[in-house]
Amino acid sequence: MSQEKRSSFTGKIGFVLAAAGSAVGLGNIWRFPYLAAKYGGGIFLLVYILLAVTFGFALMIAEIAIGRKTGLSAIGAFKLLNKKFSFLGWLAAIIPAIILPYYSVIGGWVAKYLWSFISGGAFQTANDTYFGNFISQTGEPISWFILFIGITALIVLCGVEKGIEKVSKIMMPVLVVLSLFIAIYSVCLPGASEGVKYYLLPDFSRFSATTVLAALGQLFYSMSLAMGIMITYGSYMKKEVSLEASVTQIEIFDTGIAFLAGMMIIPAVFVFSGGTPEALGKGPSLMFVTLPKVFESMTGGTVVGALFFILVFFAALTSSISLMETVVSIVCDKCKVKRGVSCLIVFIFSVALGLLSTLGYGIWSEVKIIGLQFLDFFDFISNSVLMPVVAFFTSIFVGYVIKPKTIADEVEISGKFKRKALFEVVIKYLAPVCIILILVSSVLDAFGIFKI
Ligand code: PFF
Repeated sequence: MSQEKRSSFTGKIGFVLAAAGSAVGLGNIWRFPYLAAKYGGGIFLLVYILLAVTFGFALMIAEIAIGRKTGLSAIGAFKLLNKKFSFLGWLAAIIPAIILPYYSVIGGWVAKYLWSFISGGAFQTANDTYFGNFISQTGEPISWFILFIGITALIVLCGVEKGIEKVSKIMMPVLVVLSLFIAIYSVCLPGASEGVKYYLLPDFSRFSATTVLAALGQLFYSMSLAMGIMITYGSYMKKEVSLEASVTQIEIFDTGIAFLAGMMIIPAVFVFSGGTPEALGKGPSLMFVTLPKVFESMTGGTVVGALFFILVFFAALTSSISLMETVVSIVCDKCKVKRGVSCLIVFIFSVALGLLSTLGYGIWSEVKIIGLQFLDFFDFISNSVLMPVVAFFTSIFVGYVIKPKTIADEVEISGKFKRKALFEVVIKYLAPVCIILILVSSVLDAFGIFKI
């Protein structure tokens, strides 16, 4: 347990923006659109929103309340509340340590695109082969990755308020406005309407357990849930700040940006690549291949593109800061080392793991783990396996061990808990049952045994 007094966020808006800074990132802008494109558009969007207002809401409120109540990050918090559940803190703590390295690899890709846009090479990026050529090299992606994670480490060294709050406060609102502008532009492109339909109208024949699992993993990833992050953030939150209102705002913010990112990218896939299954199933490269084409088609596209990549860069940075902050504070607390030493340890570990992800798209592209490249493997293991497992145990822990009342009491310190009944039903029944069903059926599905 950390004996030092924890620094805290100044006021509600500071907390919401900082937590939104953690939540809004590559998950919204890069990951959400490619999953939505791949898993049937409208049906994915619908499932995602339903999960956000139930699972997302309940888990986020539980995690922030646990953090604020204990004043500790995940490991200490679970241990303090019940010794038998210490394992859950550790399990949760592994996840940001797995995500941070590959997240920074993608942060590096964004930095590279940003550089291309401001150094006059903007429209080369619109070339179909540009992205593939770039990530398959060795030195360049590694340099951008190390630059990105190096900047993250420097900011984490400077501490919570100075580093995170200031950056988030300026960048987040600008990101919303620019995303709105680009989304409107995309939707108005000739031929975009097919894409808009694909994205907004659910096709129920595409519903499957895999869609739900993908949406669930994305929900956790996007809202920084089921990995101890929101517990850490909660530990910095003041008692007088309304927990429920903050959670609602973070969710609206986070889902809003993801939705807009889908609007920017998915109709454009139909415009520029015909909306074929191959074009829609591009996966991690979708944003990097599609958006430059949008900017190329736009008057003043270089400037808009540059501005866009600056904002995505900062959104990614605030998220990677929160990932690193969590890992660093755990290493500080557990290994009893100073912050500087802890930052160095986390930095070195992340560079080592991140190198696997970068090289996995280049000279080691032949190496596959369960059929996946390193980056995709790390993404799969954290989002589709570990996070659902942590979310399952968290709901059991809150629903049956400390009881929903413990959370409700913490929420009620700062005002009425309006959706208490919803919270209880989700955390006690809906979440544990659904997560198990989804996990089991998607595993069976993966082995071709049974299909919903
Ligand atoms: N929520 C972030 C995003 O959507 O990009 C990603 C993320 C940040 C995941 C922080 C986990 C985390 F701890």
